[in-house]
Amino acid sequence: MAVNSEVIDLAKIYRDQFTVFNNVTYMNSCSQGALADRVRNSFETYLKTMELNGSAWGDWAGHQETVRALVAKVLNADSGEIAITTSASAGVSSLASALDFTGKRNKIVTTENEFPTIGQIWHAQERRGAKVVHIQSQPDLTVDTAALINAIDDETLIVSVTMVCFRNGAMTDLDPIIEAAHKKGALVLVDAYQGTGAVPIDMKALKADFLVGGVLKYMLGAPGVGFMFARSSTTSQLIPVTTGWFAARDIFAMDIHSYDPAKDARRFESGTPPIPALYPAASGMEMLLEIGVPQIYEYVLPLHEELREGIESLGGKVVTPAEKAKHGAMLAVASTDEHAHVAALEGEKVITSSRDGNIRISPHFYNNREDVKKVLEAFAKHKSFLRN
Ligand SMILES: Cc1ncc(COP(=O)(O)O)c(C=O)c1O
Repeated sequence: MAVNSEVIDLAKIYRDQFTVFNNVTYMNSCSQGALADRVRNSFETYLKTMELNGSAWGDWAGHQETVRALVAKVLNADSGEIAITTSASAGVSSLASALDFTGKRNKIVTTENEFPTIGQIWHAQERRGAKVVHIQSQPDLTVDTAALINAIDDETLIVSVTMVCFRNGAMTDLDPIIEAAHKKGALVLVDAYQGTGAVPIDMKALKADFLVGGVLKYMLGAPGVGFMFARSSTTSQLIPVTTGWFAARDIFAMDIHSYDPAKDARRFESGTPPIPALYPAASGMEMLLEIGVPQIYEYVLPLHEELREGIESLGGKVVTPAEKAKHGAMLAVASTDEHAHVAALEGEKVITSSRDGNIRISPHFYNNREDVKKVLEAFAKHKSFLRN
């Protein structure tokens, strides 16, 4: 397939800033984004402030706010609607702790496409009275929107859906689910971890009440920083009981006799922020915003298509839905032995990852058609792993 000539060649502009390409063909952004030189330098900046000043408390608190503002910008949300957490799990656990499952409205409707942490956190709430309902996926592995909507009733407290499935790259049709949930008075949480940085997200248009993610994949940051959007107009009455001093209205009140949580989304935070990881988080998001997520999305689409066509022409089975609206950046390929397959590809200096019987190939803006060619050559060399 020809690459659309109107799409800016992002790899041509930015690829030189990613040293990893001197060593390997890296197509594993669904696990961890490649390290940009400027993101690498941001770690140095953190270390230098430590060497120069010892501790840099004021600077650090400022960094948390910088990261909050950047996440808000990426999601087109207000800063007050963003909690900076240490993982997506921490955000969802805090949210879960704010829900009351003791009444009639105690049902959690979720899908088979969720990341383990989401299922595990919701099932943990069974100890607090929650009932968890899982909706089977469609044969094409997308979330069954009709079945999910059908399961939402007057007893549903929250609907928890993934945006892009970590296993197969299938994208969920979120709008009708959110609309149906709201009609029944239920909240909606979207796990957007596999979408943020790769798929445009606009919280003014997407009406979810909560959305979680983290910065280490397509957002170019490092482990240690997650975030949760909490819509102020629909969630301000929810007060978490999983908490910490950084969730307090006045962090510096140092009050040990009461719980006075922040009024905005910061109430979902906890203890000392992940300071070393805030530096790369900010640096990665600044780069992301400079490039533009819509531009990245358009640039990666033809690479994804080219990978699909190449794998299929080798006789391989792509399990990611083909329709543009039904997938994110990642392409999942059925494998007879995914661990040995990843290792064989790594032997060819092609870096991918695996989940549940599939190889995950995840191009980003720094990948180019030469990378696609190298990936396909490595797949051709190890064709015996392809499963139909
Ligand atoms: C869809 C999805 N949700 C959640 C996570 C993990 O979140 P956490 O930051 O809690 O480790 C991942 C990580 O791979 C993911 O792909």
